[in-house]
Amino acid sequence: MRRRAEPAGGVRLRDVQSGDLDAYVRLRCDPAVMAELGGPQPRDRVAAQLRRDLETVRDGSAWIKMIVPDGGTEVAGTVTVYAHDGVSEIGWMVAPEFQGRGLAGKAVRAVLDLARADGRWGLIHAFPATTNAASNAICRSGGFAFLGEEQTEFAGRLFRTNHWVVDPCGTRR
Ligand SMILES: CC(C)(COP(=O)(O)OP(=O)(O)OC[C@H]1O[C@@H](n2cnc3c(N)ncnc32)[C@H](O)[C@@H]1OP(=O)(O)O)[C@@H](O)C(=O)NCCC(=O)NCCS
Repeated sequence: MRRRAEPAGGVRLRDVQSGDLDAYVRLRCDPAVMAELGGPQPRDRVAAQLRRDLETVRDGSAWIKMIVPDGGTEVAGTVTVYAHDGVSEIGWMVAPEFQGRGLAGKAVRAVLDLARADGRWGLIHAFPATTNAASNAICRSGGFAFLGEEQTEFAGRLFRTNHWVVDPCGTRR
C-alpha cells in the first residue's frame, strides 16, 4: 500500500455529480481498488455506471458520497449506502494514493452519522472479504457487530466474506 506523508485531516462528503467521471475512472478502473469488487471496470462502461448512480441518488434509493479530504477538491474515494432485497448495505473505496491516511474510516463514521440523523436505512450491513484487513478494521472500529463468515456473490463471483452489521441509531458508536 502506498502511503503519503501528510498528516491525516478530516473529510467532506458530497453527493456524486455529473462531473465525477474522472474520479469514477480513477477508482473503478484501478485493478488494486477493484480487486475484491469484481475486478476493474472497462473504461467505456464507467460513464453509464455514473449515469445510473446519479439516477439512484436522484430517486433516493442510494447514497453515493464522494470523499473529499479537507482543504482540497480532489476526490479520494466513495462511500455508498443502498438497499437491496430488503437489506441496507454500505460499501467504500479509496484511491491508492489516498490510502493509509484514515480517510475511509472517517468517511464511514461520517456517513453513519448522516444515517442516524436521516433514519431511513435501519440496520446497515457490510460484507468485506475475509482477507480485506483494512475494511474489516473499519467495521471493527466503526462499531459494527460481527455476525460471522459467509459466501457472498458480487459481480458474478463468489467471495468468502465477513458479515458485519451496525445500527446507526444505536448506542454502540
Ligand atoms: C478498504 C479501503 C477503502 C481502506 O481505505 P483507507 O483510507 O486506506 O483506510 P483507513 O486509512 O481509513 O484505515 C482504516 C482502518 O484499516 C486499517 N488499515 C489500513 N490499511 C491496512 C492494512 N493494509 N492492513 C491492516 N489494516 C489496515 C487502519 O489502521 C484503520 O484501522 P482503524 O479503523 O482501527 O484505525 C481501501 O483499502 C480500498 O479502497 N480498498 C479497495 C476497495 C475495497 O476493498 N472496498 C471494500 C469493499 S467492502
